[in-house]
Amino acid sequence: MTTNGLQVAIDGPASAGKSTVAKLVAKRFGYVYCDTGAMYRSVTLAALRENVAMDDTAAIIKIAQEIHISFEAGDPEQRVFINDQEVTKAIRSNEVAANVSAVAAIPEVRQEMVKEQRQIAAQGGIVMDGRDIGTTVLPNASVKIFLVASAHERARRRFEENQAKGIATTTIEELQKAIELRDQKDSTRKVSPLTKAADAVEIDSTHLSIDEVVDEISKIIEKKRNN
Ligand code: DC
Repeated sequence: MTTNGLQVAIDGPASAGKSTVAKLVAKRFGYVYCDTGAMYRSVTLAALRENVAMDDTAAIIKIAQEIHISFEAGDPEQRVFINDQEVTKAIRSNEVAANVSAVAAIPEVRQEMVKEQRQIAAQGGIVMDGRDIGTTVLPNASVKIFLVASAHERARRRFEENQAKGIATTTIEELQKAIELRDQKDSTRKVSPLTKAADAVEIDSTHLSIDEVVDEISKIIEKKRNN
């Protein structure tokens, strides 16, 4: 039995429900939750706000190295800050979503984020979600989950989420197309593409409720904790 908490890595494609379940799993075990997608989104937002062209790689790298991204617990969502300015909502804009894949594909940006993510996870007791957590950021994580769902189901969930938040949204079909495009970009990029770690457990949430996914992951964590 370990005294420190475990490192739990949750990877998977866009809108598979990673952040929702990661947050609930973290709460159940009293672990810290770290949303690594929010970090890439924050770099993208900072670049957009400084009117940096998305192909000005050197300027984007500089921003990634200079900004300080931090998280604070919040309800219903974790709050995100760039330096001392809250960006929780701003990093979810369509403009950020449209540009974040390009920013996340820059090797030096990833290097910087991975360094920060490893520091955040060093003490254990962490649930970290992203695309490359089990493969690159925390290759020795005790628990690795690869969470998937069909593109249609992910689009449907995103549509409902947007409606509930009052965000103007496109049709489910258009959302599905955007999701498929991001999947393709995230899994074919040269640096740290989205791939399932050899020792990850794959969970398909297409026909599962949030609670069912959280229960399944919790069982895997319990088993590891009792080893
Ligand atoms: O999970 P998300 O939609 O907030 O992620 C935003 C983008 O960042 C997405 O295009 C994939 C990328 N990302 C990444 O490359 N590596 C991570 N660990 C997390 C996100």
